[in-house]
Order: sequence, then C-alpha cells, then structure tokens
Amino acid sequence: MSASSESSARPAYITTPIYYVNDRPHIGSAYTTTLCDVWARAMRLDGRDVFFLTGTDEHGQKVEKSAKDRGMTPQALADENSAEFRKLLGPFNLSNDDFIRTTEPRHESQVQAFVTRLLASGDIYLGEFNGWYDEGQEEYITELRAKELDYKSPISGKPLVRATEKNYYFRLSAYQSKLEAFFAANPGFVRPAGRFNEVLGRLRDGLQDVPVTRTNFTWGIPMPNAPEHVIYVWIDALFNYATALGLGDDKGALAKDRAKFWPPEYHVIGKEILWFHAVIWPAMLMALGLPMPKCVYAHSFWIRNGQKMSKSLGNFVDLPTIETFFTKYGVDAWRWYMTTQGPLGTQDADFSDKHFHEIYTAQLVNTFANCASRTSSMIEKYFGGAMPEAETASMPVSGAAGAPSWSAFTDATAKKTLAHYEAFELAEAADAALSIVRAVDLLINETAPFKLAKDPANLPQVARILAACAEGVRTAAVLLSPIMPAKCEEVLAAYGSGGVGTGGMVAAARWGGLKAGTRIAKCAPFMRTDPPAA
Ligand code: MSP
Repeated sequence: MSASSESSARPAYITTPIYYVNDRPHIGSAYTTTLCDVWARAMRLDGRDVFFLTGTDEHGQKVEKSAKDRGMTPQALADENSAEFRKLLGPFNLSNDDFIRTTEPRHESQVQAFVTRLLASGDIYLGEFNGWYDEGQEEYITELRAKELDYKSPISGKPLVRATEKNYYFRLSAYQSKLEAFFAANPGFVRPAGRFNEVLGRLRDGLQDVPVTRTNFTWGIPMPNAPEHVIYVWIDALFNYATALGLGDDKGALAKDRAKFWPPEYHVIGKEILWFHAVIWPAMLMALGLPMPKCVYAHSFWIRNGQKMSKSLGNFVDLPTIETFFTKYGVDAWRWYMTTQGPLGTQDADFSDKHFHEIYTAQLVNTFANCASRTSSMIEKYFGGAMPEAETASMPVSGAAGAPSWSAFTDATAKKTLAHYEAFELAEAADAALSIVRAVDLLINETAPFKLAKDPANLPQVARILAACAEGVRTAAVLLSPIMPAKCEEVLAAYGSGGVGTGGMVAAARWGGLKAGTRIAKCAPFMRTDPPAA
C-alpha cells in the first residue's frame, strides 16, 4: 500500500472492473487485475504516487435471484463471494490500494449524492421505457441494436425480452455531440485502436437515453427521491471508480486524501463491457463536470483450446486449475505468462498448458534463470562469491560492429521499458527488459568465461565479463520486478543489492549499482519441470 496524502509525487490511478459476486473468480478476473498490478508496481517503482483499485459489484437482479435459489439473503451471498475475490489478492501478489464493495455505505451514500446532482441538473428524469432487455447481462438494448443482434443476447444467446417500465433515465442523447468532439480530440481514449473504431461505429447509430432505475426487484441502491426505484446495477457499479476516491462527498475525509488521484490513467476492462465505459460513463462524468479518464483499455478474452470458456462447457480456467500452475511453476511464472501472452490486443488468446510450459522453459528457465544462475556460479567459483572489480560501463555489449556500451544499452533499454509500461504495452515492456538478459546470455556464449578462466592470466578479462553479466542480471531484475516481484526480489537479494532501488525506474536500473566486493550468492530462480501430459 503506497498511496499517501503527503506524497508530492505525480498521482497515478488505475482501476479494474468490479467483479460480479454471482460469479467465482477465474482466469478472466485474475488476468485484468494482474495487468493492473503490473502497471501499478511499475509506476510505483518509477516514484509515482499510485492508487490501484479493484473490488466487487454486488447489486442487481441476478444476485437477488441466485441468493433466493440458495436460500440466503443477497447480502450473505455478496459477503461470501466478495471474500472469494479478496482471497485472490494475496496468492496472486496483487498490490491494490483499496477493495471497494458496492454494498458498502460509503459507496451507497455517494451514489445517491451523485444521482441527486444529476436529478437537479435535469440529466436524470422520470420517463417510460418500452423496449428490449438482455436479462442475463441486465442491459437495455436499443431497437436498432436488437435487430442487429437478431433479438438475441450477444453473450448468452438467449432471446432478448420486451420490457415496459416507468423509469428514471439518463439523458445520454444530449451528450452525442460532446462525446464525438471529445473522442475526436482524444484518439487514444479507447485502446486498442480497433476497439475505439467499434465504439465510434456504434456511436454513429445515435445515442438514446438510458434507464438508470428498475422497479421489478429491490436488491440495489434506492433512488434518493423515489425509494421504490432502485438504481440500475450498471450505473451503481460505474460510480465505484469515483466513490472509492470520495468524489461524491467532496467535503469528506476520503476525498481529502484521495481526490488528487482523479482522473484515472487507465480503466482496464474486458471488451464486453466497453460501451458502458467508453460512452455511458464519460457522458455521466461530463454531466457531473468531472474530468475524463485518460484511457479505457479494453483487452480481449482468454479462450480455452480455441473455445469460449463457459460454465456449460465446463472449460473455465478456474481457481483450482490456476492453483495447479502455482504449485508447479510458481505465481511469478503465472504472472509472466499472463503479462506476455495474454489478449492485450484485439485478438483473443488461447490458454494452453503446453504453451505455458514452452514459454516458461524458454524465457524463464533457459533465459532469465540460466543467466542469473550461471553468472552467480562463476562468480562463486572464480571470485569466491564477491562482485569482481572491473570497469564495465564502456565495455561493448557484444562483439558486433557498432555495438553500444553496456551502460548506454541498459540506460536506453530502461527508458524504453518504462515507456512501454507507461503506455500499458506490458508485453513489450517485458520483452525490452528481457533483452538485457539475452545480451548477458550472448556475452557468456561469445566470450566463454568458463574456458578463459582455465588460464589464470585471463582472470582480469573474466572479471570484466562476469562483472558485466552480474550488473546486467541486476538491471534486468529491476526492470522485470513489476511483473515478477517475488522472483526478482530473490535475484536482487542474491545479487547483494538491497531491493529494487529508488529514484525512479531508470535510475534504479542505471549501470553500476553493484559495487565491487558485494557478496553474490548462487541463485536459480526458476527450475526445469516436466512438460504437461499430452
Ligand atoms: N460487474 C461488471 C463490471 C462493472 S465495472 C464498473 C462485470 N463483472 S464480471 O465479473 O463479469 O467481470 C467482467 C470482467 O472480467 C471483464 O471485463 C474482464 O475484465 C474479465 N473477464 C471475464 N472473462 C474473461 C475472459 N475469458 N478473458 C479475459 N478477461 C475476462 O462485467
């Protein structure tokens, strides 16, 4: 937990979707939260004052119904399942600064305050709804879109139903041109770009006002002026991003500490909930006069052996399955796979045991661990486990013509890695950081210090090579630490450096951190394992 009100560092706010409590955690929710965690850790390492939010979405008809089916109160069901999501945080090494639940009084009172403001401004009004509704998604669908969808839910495939209700509405239609102007001025607002195009395409169909209350169930936040209405779960849920910072109660203690984090740098979500985040939420923020988030990042889906994961197919990568990966490969290998192989672009990514094993073996065992372990063993063998004394900053990274010096190379790589982290290009950040390990590997292979060491006259040369390797391993571990915090800490501890360092990511990774004489212990952060059964 690093967010503090005293810090003068630049605030950085990142959010996950809040997860429905009528589902159990699985690879999907763990994925989004892990991505946010990597970014949050990278920004903290860079000295930013980070606020990383996740939580659970606990109201709505589906929760009311599931609770009834199980003979319990909706609150009891919400408590039980919210705890499941919270339990995930420790084992996945997630460093969130808060966990918001929409049934908490702090959230409910602020949602009512926001809605009262929107009633007063005329952005919310009482009207009659007559149209299509997706029961599974608890989502109203316009006539045009219902037709496009062949009157079936795009998620469950079940028929849409007709719904007529006197409801409160949000005047979304009034924000069409304001949203268009905002989108035109902010081409990076929705990423990846392909997803933004989908939003812009749908926007051209024209916006209709959206209902913000329901009367056919009671498990929700009551409308402040008309308690027989409950606030529609999606409107309630979207507000979490603002209520967690206390923005609905600007004189409150929470806002005093946290208001500085607004606006979010990233709302990270899955592609299926983009419309709410890219259109409805920004329009609500415009109505409230709050600054816009910088970016809504909508990743694609993990699928399993080419198929969508679903309860009916029973092919979910659920928590018990994930735990088998933790046992075999460790949590950081899981985080590495999520970060480097996941569906951050517009394509879905297939999760397969075999691919996981291949990536683990090639990148973590044979590359990262191998360099850390060979370097530390040779330093042990030839220099008694102490960092050799040698000038390495000006040494070329390889024998290739025009190769940069180690210090120039790692400095440029650290800057590049940071820029990728900042831009939420997490796989690219991982690859840039790993390029230092690949350079260490190449240096060992090109120079063969284990052969040179056979002749004592070569020891100064061996010292220089191994000192460069050790410093390369250290810098890579610093840059990789947001993705693999525990393993990088292990490597950094073995390499005698007291943690990742301070002064920002680039400074922490600056060449020359390891001083001559520092004790370097043997370490092997990732071990070879058997391939999965075919
Ligand atoms: N409660 C709403 C979100 C409200 S946010 C104001 C909701 N919850 S959810 O429990 O269904 O979680 C949806 C999110 O889980 C997705 O947006 C995505 O982040 C994640 N995933 C669910 N299934 C997924 C995959 N198969 N693959 C990757 N992520 C997916 O919608």
